[in-house]
Amino acid sequence: MEPELVEIVEGATKLLVPKGSLVEKVPPMKPAFFNPRARINRDFSMIAYATFLRTFKGPKVFLDSLSGIGARSIRVANELDAIEKVFINDVNPKALEIAENIAKLNNVTNCIFSENEACRFLSLHSKRENRGAIVDIDPFGSPSRYLDCGIRATFHGGLLSVTATDLTVLHGLFPAACKRKYYGTPVRTEYGDEIALRLILGCMNIVAGRLDVKIVPLFVQNNMHYYKTYVKVLVKTNNKEEMGYILHCKNCGNRHVTSDVRYECNVCNLKAELAGPLWIGNIYNKNFVSEMIIEEKQLQVDKSCKKILERCKDEADMPPTYFTIDKLAHMKHAAPVSLAKTIEKIQNAGFMASATSLNPAAFKTDARIDEILAVI
Ligand SMILES: C[S@@+](CC[C@H](N)C(=O)[O-])C[C@H]1O[C@@H](n2cnc3c(N)ncnc32)[C@H](O)[C@@H]1O
Ligand SMILES: [Zn+2]
Repeated sequence: MEPELVEIVEGATKLLVPKGSLVEKVPPMKPAFFNPRARINRDFSMIAYATFLRTFKGPKVFLDSLSGIGARSIRVANELDAIEKVFINDVNPKALEIAENIAKLNNVTNCIFSENEACRFLSLHSKRENRGAIVDIDPFGSPSRYLDCGIRATFHGGLLSVTATDLTVLHGLFPAACKRKYYGTPVRTEYGDEIALRLILGCMNIVAGRLDVKIVPLFVQNNMHYYKTYVKVLVKTNNKEEMGYILHCKNCGNRHVTSDVRYECNVCNLKAELAGPLWIGNIYNKNFVSEMIIEEKQLQVDKSCKKILERCKDEADMPPTYFTIDKLAHMKHAAPVSLAKTIEKIQNAGFMASATSLNPAAFKTDARIDEILAVI
């Protein structure tokens, strides 16, 4: 019997989604996968893509390599006026059949559907003349197997967006698997979300380097279920050293960004742990995020997007890693002080400090742990 499809609206687009995906705790794979909780993930994609398309000069083609029912790609076709052509690909024919019906429902006519393995699909788009201005990789689990062909299918100056949902691997539960998939290992810390994002970017940078191209991170976003990175791909080599390690001391709470392998804490001199190799450069491009804040106003997206973007802008020039107020209170054997007050105290002592989009109860600063503890 044909499983029931339900019509919902996401952004400004009507979607037909399997009923099970709305009522079951984990969205079912059959007849096709759709995750209603990834709506904000797709909202941010609309904002990032709209911002990017404003200044992109080449053919405005979107490649959705693992489309599912096409929720992201048909939203792109329907909500972003600048887009010219949208390629929608998945291995599941049922997902594609639903995607075609969604396209019809929204009267969009610039979509081309294909049933291919994602790497084959992306390889078919690796010639200069048919690369994507925007390429999305949204797999189950790790994106690492798709990075080579994803980068090769992205136009010079194009945008590559990549999702990872293998949270246990990126959080350090399986360090060997993390090293195998991302070339680096995490340390389990209160800022594990940032380490995870930097491991993904680090892996993308290593693959890009091998292909003689360069990635420039523009924006990252996460929630409880996924990490998403948005990078610009440039056909030129990266001469800046943006790979390194984060030294984390579990004794005193110090973090230190370093380009060398070293294990001695530069605050308490005890043996520390090392996360990496990972991306130690910027993870937000301040100009791009500022443009996203303007673009957000034009789109039908969740109202939380605006607040998150404001935080990204504030933290764009901050050094890596963040401090949680809970952990600091624990170290001080005191009740947690409000985030706003903590930031104010650190700024008043002459340091930089800002909230972070990666954790609502945390801040970034250029002050060291001993300086922070002295101030608060
Ligand atoms: C996380 S879902 C994609 C969700 C979709 N991008 C969205 O925003 O709703 C992953 C999709 O990848 C498809 N898939 C899995 N392995 C694939 C492969 N090797 N090549 C192409 N598609 C694949 C699955 O059928 C599934 O639809
Ligand atoms: Zn230490």
